Amino acid sequence: MYLNREEEKTLQGEYGESKRLAMKILCALGDFFHAEKLIRIESAHVSGVSYKTGGDALIDVLEKFAESRPKTAVVTSLNPSGMDRLRWREMGITDSFATKQNKIIELYQSMGVLSVCSCVPYELGNIAKSGHHVSFSESSAVTFMNSFLGAYTNRESGLSALASAIIGKTPEYGLHIPENRNPEVVVEIDAKLTSPTDYGVVGYSIGKNFGSKIPLLQKISHLNIQQAKQLSAAMAASGSISLFHTDSCTRKEFEEKTLEKMVIDQKHLDELKDSLDPTSQPDIIMIGCPHTSIGTLRRISELLKSPVSNRTQLWIFTSRPIKMIAGSMGYVQNIERMGARVFCDTCPVVSPMPEFELALTDSAKAAHYLPTMSKIESAVKPLEDCIKIATGERI
Ligand code: F3S
Repeated sequence: MYLNREEEKTLQGEYGESKRLAMKILCALGDFFHAEKLIRIESAHVSGVSYKTGGDALIDVLEKFAESRPKTAVVTSLNPSGMDRLRWREMGITDSFATKQNKIIELYQSMGVLSVCSCVPYELGNIAKSGHHVSFSESSAVTFMNSFLGAYTNRESGLSALASAIIGKTPEYGLHIPENRNPEVVVEIDAKLTSPTDYGVVGYSIGKNFGSKIPLLQKISHLNIQQAKQLSAAMAASGSISLFHTDSCTRKEFEEKTLEKMVIDQKHLDELKDSLDPTSQPDIIMIGCPHTSIGTLRRISELLKSPVSNRTQLWIFTSRPIKMIAGSMGYVQNIERMGARVFCDTCPVVSPMPEFELALTDSAKAAHYLPTMSKIESAVKPLEDCIKIATGERI
């Protein structure tokens, strides 16, 4: 990969060990993928924050990075950590886990990474215009940024996103190149999608069927943010899709007729939903994968009119800034008065959850990961049904 004079100097260590390390990672990545050069990025988002998933090795790597006190060159946000930074005891987190988790967050902060601890940085100001390059490493956010906003990012690892954040550049390959963003398969959605959860279920099926191929979704051209969040998260989880197009796709350089096609009709959708239905009473209901928006917190506070049943718990996950706004409007108080809990800085998948048998969630992505990451069986229902089941109402 071609490096200009400044980049060469960085690689030689003239600007400190941390920048040398970051440049070395970007060069290795660029050489591997035959990138010709580095390109500037507008912002970055770094995953790899939870002590549950990173362990002591993550602390060692971050200490090495932070040694010569680098600062991120662009606005950089942080993914969820392994606990609520204030209410971790309520989540059953141990003292030693909390100490190490805080250490990880402090190391990121020392490098200028914004500790928003959220997987929806685009709802918190880390957003980009269509065609702008960014370096993101949370798979659901990668797909959202590429598909809903039209920004350009590869699916980075936590380490490569951090390296890009420190240098302010990324190797030009993959989804940073317009020709690589053409649809590769067509999916016709011939079914009625009535909730964001339905979009997640459809995304889950597409990811499972097409792995990492770029789909063109037909008959769903007007996505809203909540639908796009669930669709992006699910197809990036069951497959590794980092970009999808919809009917409004403006890319004309592909021959649609020659592409493999799949149809998701009502029968297919209903069967999928049936297969995800809970078979017994869940002992935990989890909302907030990806992190709950202010609009959804408002909706939950309206829906939750009676106390959470003593046969289950209702945990809602969001970011701290969104929780603060929701608190100022009284939504958090309304929700917690009914016995539910609103946690932030973390999520049901990356935190060491206490023992539960069956989790009900409105997210196909969470349902996908809970059995393996948290050893909890999972089921999926739309938000409204989740709240009804939480309060013991019949649905
Ligand atoms: Fe976010 Fe955790 Fe889901 S990081 S997308 S809430 S698995």
